[in-house]
Amino acid sequence: MNTAIQNAETALTDTVVAAFARTPDPRLRQLMQSLVRHLHAFVADVEPSEAEWMAAIRYLTETGQMCDGAVRQEFILLSDTLGVSMLVDAINHRKPDQATESTVFGPFYIAGMPERAAGENMALTPGEPALVHGHVRDTEGRPLAGALLDVWQTAANGMYSGQDPAQPHGNLRGRYRSGEDGSFAIRTILPVSYPIPGDGPVGRMMAATGRHIYRPAHLHFMIDAPGHQQLVTHLFNAGDPYLASDAVFGVKPALVLEYSRQSADSPLARQHGFDTDFHEGRYDFVLSRA
Ligand code: BEZ
Ligand code: FE
Repeated sequence: MNTAIQNAETALTDTVVAAFARTPDPRLRQLMQSLVRHLHAFVADVEPSEAEWMAAIRYLTETGQMCDGAVRQEFILLSDTLGVSMLVDAINHRKPDQATESTVFGPFYIAGMPERAAGENMALTPGEPALVHGHVRDTEGRPLAGALLDVWQTAANGMYSGQDPAQPHGNLRGRYRSGEDGSFAIRTILPVSYPIPGDGPVGRMMAATGRHIYRPAHLHFMIDAPGHQQLVTHLFNAGDPYLASDAVFGVKPALVLEYSRQSADSPLARQHGFDTDFHEGRYDFVLSRA
């Protein structure tokens, strides 16, 4: 490209950046000017044809049209599959070393799910029985009593209640409180790996780029304790085949939980009312100060 043409293209970027120079809100000014610079740099880098640019506009339009204002949020899914959600999460949750790491929130949380007693079974549909238990502590190792653990996972068919009309209200969801010693116990079924919604623009992008749409099996947590930072995280099943290729890049080694087999006649089975063998996972959450 000759220098005069290149200069004209650079000058255009400078003109657009300058057009935002008088934005009264300094943060909005920074956001808009940086967005213009990066967007122009991307276009200058890939030099799209006009047909390609129209295809990109159509893609974003269809992404918006796929959202239903309730369960389906295709833009979050796009942010997740491009790794942007995890980058935003990392920037906003820089924690002390001892604190449990956060991960992506995902689109399937539902507020106001049943309050459950310690050890109560939140699985109303079949699966491999499991117990997930441990403690909630602060970064000095002190127990956090009365912490609220809001928990959700898919059924054995890989779908969340709320997403799958066949599941009863509150299935595999619940709000548990830690006891005086910070302990919690969740009776459930072993999480399974499942595909993120693949029937929209995000699914097309994943297929066209040779990526799969699976998430490794996990249990979601949102944990609140007074005076401490909220923790949004998952516990992933050790050994899951998708741990190294999570479609939304949410896996962190410290969040991988090894389950062990417990027999129906173990003291733990008696304590928690299991009459079959089950999977036991133990995990201690550490919350940092607000
Ligand atoms: C989830 O784990 O629920 C989830 C996270 C990101 C995208 C889709 C699903
Ligand atoms: Fe999930």
